[in-house]
Amino acid sequence: MEYPKDPYISIHYKKYLGLEQLLSAQRLRSEDLEKPAHDEMLFIIIHQVYELWFKQIIHELESVNKMFKNDYLDERSIGTAVERLDRVIVIFELLVQQIKVLETMTPMDFLEFRSYLFPASGFQSFQFRKMEVMLGLPADQRITYNNKPYHSAFSEEERTELEMLENNGSLVKELIDWLERIPFLQFNEFSFLASYKEAVQHMIAKEQQAIRDSQFLSDKEKEMRLIMLGDTNNYFKSIFDENAHNQLVEEGTLRFSYKATISALFIKLYKDEPILQLPNLLLERLIDVEELLTVWRYRHAQMVLRMLGKKIGTGGSSGHTYLAKTAEKHHIFHDLYNLSTMMIPRGDLPELPEELRESLGFVFTKK
Ligand code: HEM
Repeated sequence: MEYPKDPYISIHYKKYLGLEQLLSAQRLRSEDLEKPAHDEMLFIIIHQVYELWFKQIIHELESVNKMFKNDYLDERSIGTAVERLDRVIVIFELLVQQIKVLETMTPMDFLEFRSYLFPASGFQSFQFRKMEVMLGLPADQRITYNNKPYHSAFSEEERTELEMLENNGSLVKELIDWLERIPFLQFNEFSFLASYKEAVQHMIAKEQQAIRDSQFLSDKEKEMRLIMLGDTNNYFKSIFDENAHNQLVEEGTLRFSYKATISALFIKLYKDEPILQLPNLLLERLIDVEELLTVWRYRHAQMVLRMLGKKIGTGGSSGHTYLAKTAEKHHIFHDLYNLSTMMIPRGDLPELPEELRESLGFVFTKK
């Protein structure tokens, strides 16, 4: 697009926004084929709007990934990263809402032009894949169909870009590196992990005692509950035993390294300490993004069921069945969800040494 180089030359709204190209990019196949279908305009525009929002999300993720990429993260950047992720979250909420606009089209109206779309499909959306990869969805955990890798839909150049991002550009990877660098887990004599372990054992002992002392449970029920609590105890195994954790990483159940997991746990448990508040918000925002992406997958799958029933997709998948599986399986930050299992009540939290608490506070509030 030709653009005036002089910043003081006025520019027209239409030119600035490239409206000529944008508004002439809705070419209806049904009209070309002289079988005009009214709803094809909506179908095209809604996909274009999605692609524009995908572009904005990628823009935000690129900037966040860049902040985390260095060996040193300026703490001031965390606030900016949280703000940018907030924006991504609001956009995702909009993307979920937008499905309703599409649902004003009935299955009959869709059938007016659906046959002209083969084999085009959202499966070929490069930006959607880029977004998934930039967040950190690993290739080996993807559900595919027709025995083809997910990126077979793209040009060689696009495939190379996705592979590069997979190896070295995902937010999960940057997050793990950052978490591994976080100090405070061992502070002079204080070991966070040892104190936490003691606190968990204390908490479980209290819960066991409460069950044994209960006047409302039968002996059989008490026995059952104590067995169930034993399982809860098992949940903590991966945090107390580095080998057990590494085993889960090897199996693909977890992705964070042991050190990164302990750091994230420390942030979440002591999130009220002033300098941990933003890091905790960052972790929460990532869970929000993941949650909304899953909601979108689920809503999209439900819309497809409503629109197509059990018909196969134009891209050749099983349609709703394939999409519902992606909603169930395509998760990125499950390590963060897993931390909720490790939470203990504030009252049971090990007290931090005074010097460490001061280090986690704001300078001007220090005595
Ligand atoms: C009538 C409307 C729609 C129908 C019937 C539909 C149907 C489908 C189906 C069946 C698939 C699975 C692949 C295939 O076999 O084609 C799919 C994938 C996909 N669609 Fe849609 N879709 C619709 C609207 C949209 C819209 C508005 C978007 C927004 C960009 C979208 C984005 C996607 C994406 C990103 C995938 C790949 C999902 C994945 O593999 O995880 N779809 N769609």
